[in-house]
Amino acid sequence: MKTLTITRPDDWHTHVRNGALLKTVLPHTAKQFARAIIMPNLKPPVTTVAQALIYQDEILQALPADMDFTPLMTLYLTGKTSEADIKLAAESDAVVAFKLYPAGATTNSDAGVANITAIFPALSALEKYNLPLLIHGEVTDEHCDIFDRERLFIETHLNTIVKNFPALRIVLEHVTTSEAVQFVKATAKTVAATITPQHLLFNRNALLAGGIRPHFYCLPILKREQHRLALVAAATSGNPKFFLGTDSAPHLSSLKETACGCAGCYSAHAAIELYAEVFERADALDKLEGFASFYGADFYRLPRNTTTITLEKQTWTVPSIYGDAEHSITPLKAGETLSWRLR
Ligand code: DOR
Ligand code: ZN
Repeated sequence: MKTLTITRPDDWHTHVRNGALLKTVLPHTAKQFARAIIMPNLKPPVTTVAQALIYQDEILQALPADMDFTPLMTLYLTGKTSEADIKLAAESDAVVAFKLYPAGATTNSDAGVANITAIFPALSALEKYNLPLLIHGEVTDEHCDIFDRERLFIETHLNTIVKNFPALRIVLEHVTTSEAVQFVKATAKTVAATITPQHLLFNRNALLAGGIRPHFYCLPILKREQHRLALVAAATSGNPKFFLGTDSAPHLSSLKETACGCAGCYSAHAAIELYAEVFERADALDKLEGFASFYGADFYRLPRNTTTITLEKQTWTVPSIYGDAEHSITPLKAGETLSWRLR
């Protein structure tokens, strides 16, 4: 049987939620990944080190006893985040980065940043204390076409942030456009990007052609095929500026299969298998380990993992739901066959 053994990967962007949902999804992430960057967009958002420690503890309590997994905590940047908050975070072992959500850009982002130039003092403090800034890069102007929001964020805000804070490490999260790929490639070493499995596998037809398929609805929204191709080229290029971040974002199926459904694709159940499919199709399986296991750790200045995982070329069928019928999550590729399986 064909197998692929790589250094155990990390997920540099995921949502594990809390409460009952956390218990359902965490084993999926922990089975695959040694570490994961945990997004802070809970209700209410995780804005202080004290809250991050409580959340980290909840995650560790929910972790099955036989699993080895480290949650890397992030704090949610608001208009009120002070230099003192940032200093405390830099001194804590638990918190590794701050997340910038433009207010209203996505799920639970109401408390996000309404005026980006107004938080420049906080960005200066992040630069000073050497904490990475993780960005949901979409403008929120309701008049801006949803398919242009990432490109306009780069033109309007990201350019300025990078110029003003040359030493600030920035991750442009879940890039979806050729413009984002170009920007990250062309700009300073301090700027990197994560790429999700759904943006590598699907274009907007999956969401909209032949019927509306809410389980493909995420933010930033899926784009045209030309953008998907640019993402595949970036991910499989071996350029260390691009690394794995699933943005796995579980929502109850009932909250997605409705007149106004939530944004988020659930991919933690088969993340590395989905990426393997993309890399194999691009004839670049030899580049998967760098993307999944090395470049993110290097960027965050954390040690690379030392254990390995093995994937087998063996088909399996993704369950149609996880959880129970009343509290179900519909995963990416539900009911479909995958060609790689984690041993
Ligand atoms: O689709 C998304 N879902 N995009 C995000 O940025 C947030 C996430 C969520 O938390 O559900
Ligand atoms: Zn996310």
